[in-house]
Amino acid sequence: MKQGLIQLRDFIAAHADSIVVLADKHTLDDCYPLLGADLPYVTVPYGEGYKNLNSCEYIWKKLTELNASRQTILLCLGGGVLCDMGAFAGACYQRGMRVVLVPTSLLAMVDASTGGKTGVNFLGFKNYIGLFAQAEETFICPTFLETLPYSERVNGYVEMLKHGLIADRNHYNKVKMLFLKENSKLDNALILDSIAIKQRHVEQD
Ligand SMILES: NC(=O)c1ccc[n+]([C@@H]2O[C@H](COP(=O)([O-])OP(=O)(O)OC[C@H]3O[C@@H](n4cnc5c(N)ncnc54)[C@H](O)[C@@H]3O)[C@@H](O)[C@H]2O)c1
Repeated sequence: MKQGLIQLRDFIAAHADSIVVLADKHTLDDCYPLLGADLPYVTVPYGEGYKNLNSCEYIWKKLTELNASRQTILLCLGGGVLCDMGAFAGACYQRGMRVVLVPTSLLAMVDASTGGKTGVNFLGFKNYIGLFAQAEETFICPTFLETLPYSERVNGYVEMLKHGLIADRNHYNKVKMLFLKENSKLDNALILDSIAIKQRHVEQD
């Protein structure tokens, strides 16, 4: 797992010829410009309702039109919906292309970025079709959170509170303070602590 926009931009500069970005409208408008490169991209509609096999089929169609191969890197730029679905679509495309996760929501950073769970919803069942597939690399860049609406931030805070409750009272107390003010400053170290707690639990599983 790597951290920060500089590391992400370095990675992109080194692999620019082989990257296709997967984004939704929000992350295309707000996050893609921060990548610092003019990369080919595929967009899918945002929201849980589009986390399905139809969207995957659309992604596979667009990858084929772009002549993507197994060596192509699918850079998933988005929240948990986009990262779960992109990682699944990438794992299936030509029996597995390269996948890099760039979670842009707080929940995706502290939860969906770890553990290799990928998948989509099916017939009303959540995450019903999927597989375990570790991304080749994951970049945690808190800068992306600057455009994340407060209501979405709170989903991440709740998950971080859970990490505190499970493993670390001090972490819990610090996260609790974030709920008090809408514009509370989120310390990057708290994000990394939450990821570390999640990683420890994934390893124990
Ligand atoms: N794989 C796992 O281990 C795991 C763990 C937890 C949750 N999940 C999955 O994560 C999903 C929920 O993820 P979520 O809470 O990130 O929701 P989401 O992916 O729907 O993202 C929420 C909204 O925020 C927007 N957004 C994301 N980043 C943004 C940014 N930087 N600026 C502006 N807008 C931005 C998205 O476009 C979307 O509209 C669920 O489908 C859940 O199943 C997976």
